[in-house]
Amino acid sequence: MTLRARIVGTGSALPKTRVSNEDLAQRVDTSDEWIVARTGIRFRHIAQDGETTSTLATDACQKALKAANVEAGEVDLIILATATPDQTFPASATKVQAALGIDDCIAFDVAAVCSGFLYALSVADSMIRAGAARTALVIGSETFSRILDWEDRTTCVLFGDGAGAVVLRAEEGESGILATALHADGRHNGLLYVDGGPSTTGTVGKVRMKGSEVFRHAVTNLASVMKEVLDKASLGTDDIDWVVPHQANARILDATARKLGLPAEKVIMTVDQHANTSAASVPLALDLAVRDGRIKSGDLVVLEAMGGGFTWGACVARL
Ligand code: UT7
Repeated sequence: MTLRARIVGTGSALPKTRVSNEDLAQRVDTSDEWIVARTGIRFRHIAQDGETTSTLATDACQKALKAANVEAGEVDLIILATATPDQTFPASATKVQAALGIDDCIAFDVAAVCSGFLYALSVADSMIRAGAARTALVIGSETFSRILDWEDRTTCVLFGDGAGAVVLRAEEGESGILATALHADGRHNGLLYVDGGPSTTGTVGKVRMKGSEVFRHAVTNLASVMKEVLDKASLGTDDIDWVVPHQANARILDATARKLGLPAEKVIMTVDQHANTSAASVPLALDLAVRDGRIKSGDLVVLEAMGGGFTWGACVARL
C-alpha cells in the first residue's frame, strides 16, 4: 500500500459584505456590461473592519475540521498560502494556530500569490509522504481588497476576499494526492506585482497588472501544467471528473478547457460570485462543489492555478 495525503474535509469563508459590478461603477469608470463580458465576474466579497486574512482562514479551517470530523488538537501542520498576511511577520498561519487553540504544531505561510494554494498543498503532500506530519490544514486566504488601488479600474474590479481550507490526512490506499507539478518564472515580475514591500519602499504597496499579457501566459501555462500532472499520474483528460481551476477570468477557464478538450460541464466556475480571490480561489471553489454535491468521494479532481511571479502549478487527487 502507498502512503498518501488524502483530502478528508473542506471548508471556506467569505466576508459578509458583497459588492456588485453596479456598486463599483459608482466608484470608477466601469460598467457591469464590461466586467461581465471581459471576465465573467458579477460579485465579490470585501472584508470590513475586524475581518482579516487570519480570521477568514480560521473560519474556513473550523468548517473543514468539522467536515473531516477531526479535532483541532490532531493537527500537526498548518500551511497558509497568502499574499496579504495580517502582519509582515509572524506568519498568519501562527495566528490561525492560536485561534484554533493548537498549542504546538508546524505552522508557516507560503507566498506564491494566486498559485499559493497549489504550492502549499504540494509542500504538505511531500511532508506527509515523508512522515514529517500526519494531519495538515492547508489554507488559501486573502484580503486583496486591502492592496488594491481603488482608483485603477483595470485591477480593482477583478479581485475579492475570501478563504478556503482542506484537511489532509496520511492514509494508506489509492485515494489522495496522486501527483503535483509546480513552476515559476521570475522574469515576468513586471507583469503582475505589488509596487511596495518591507525591503524596498517600506510600504505595503498596491497591485499592478498588465492584464492582457498575463492572460496569454495563463492559458498556455495552465494547459501545459495540467497535461504534465496527468502524465505524472499516468492518467488522461478522459479520466478527469472535475477541474477546479484558479478563478481569475471565465475566459481563461473556457480557453484552457478548450485547449485540453475538456467539456465545460466538468469545470467548477465560481468567478462570477467571488471574483479573483488569489490563493483562496481554488479551495473556495473546491469546498463549494463538495458541499453542493457535485464533487463526491472517489472522484478524480484536477486543481490548477497561475499567478504573480509568474508561478503556476497543478495537482491531481482522488477524493
Ligand atoms: O490571478 C492572477 C492571474 N490574473 C489573470 O489571469 C488576469 C488575466 N487577465 C485578464 O483577465 C484580462 O486581461 C483582463 C480582464 C484584466 C482585461 O481584459 P482584456 O480583454 O485583456 O482587456 P484589456 O486590458 O486589453 O483592455 C481593453 C480595454 C482598454 O481600453 P482601450 O485601451 O481599448 O481603449 C481598457 O482601458 O478595456 C478598458 N478597461 C476597462 N473598461 C471598463 C480596462 N478595465 C476596464 C474596466 N471597465 N474595469
